[in-house]
Amino acid sequence: MDKYIKSHKNMIVLEHEKVEVVREILRKLEPKPKVVVELGGYMGVSAITWGALLKEFHSESGLEGCHVYTCEYNAKWAEIIRSHVEFAGLSDLVEVVEGPSSDSLKRLKEEGVVDTVDMLFLDHWKNFYLPDTKLCEELRLFRKGTIILADNTDFPGAPDYMDYIRSGGSGNFKYETKTYVAPELKESVSAIRVSKLFKAFTYNFQAAVEATLVVAA
Ligand SMILES: C[S@@+](CC[C@H](N)C(=O)[O-])C[C@H]1O[C@@H](n2cnc3c(N)ncnc32)[C@H](O)[C@@H]1O
Repeated sequence: MDKYIKSHKNMIVLEHEKVEVVREILRKLEPKPKVVVELGGYMGVSAITWGALLKEFHSESGLEGCHVYTCEYNAKWAEIIRSHVEFAGLSDLVEVVEGPSSDSLKRLKEEGVVDTVDMLFLDHWKNFYLPDTKLCEELRLFRKGTIILADNTDFPGAPDYMDYIRSGGSGNFKYETKTYVAPELKESVSAIRVSKLFKAFTYNFQAAVEATLVVAA
């Protein structure tokens, strides 16, 4: 999978550099997340990453209660994620939820599959970041201590989401937020910028992850 991604342009997957950033964020978090919901699954790279990180963080205490739900609305990608997850030996831990993210969030809550989310990963189309966050609030999927990670919030980013999160939320939930930048990705952006490859520049100016903690619920 790694070889395939490296040999193809514009693969919209979570880069290694960002995985290290996220590992560092989660390393400091106590208790460690067990229930992860991801919006935007694509080929399953990040879903597999979350499965592997759950295994890493809970190696001593065991995986009871640990689960990753990856929500993907494209049936073709959903099928591909399932096969990649199976190949990675993570089918017991990672589940693909097929359909539009808003429907999937409602289904997970209403069917009692998920009560509250420990970690929400926003990585679908940016115009859904804010409405889906508000939907999570409405469904009370957040609790004090939930962490929300939003990918590629730098450019073109999700300005409405960032305004909302930075303002601390709108009532029932309060947020504290911080932007993390993967340094190696930022450097590669500068290099590309110098070479004036504008198209590559726009695709690569995505080195930021916004980590938001629910501090009151
Ligand atoms: C950037 S990719 C996800 C990459 C993946 N998280 C990774 O790092 O491996 C975005 C994915 O979100 C899916 N998507 C976009 N909007 C969606 C929505 N409203 N509901 C569910 N999936 C959505 C797209 O089909 C696409 O596969």
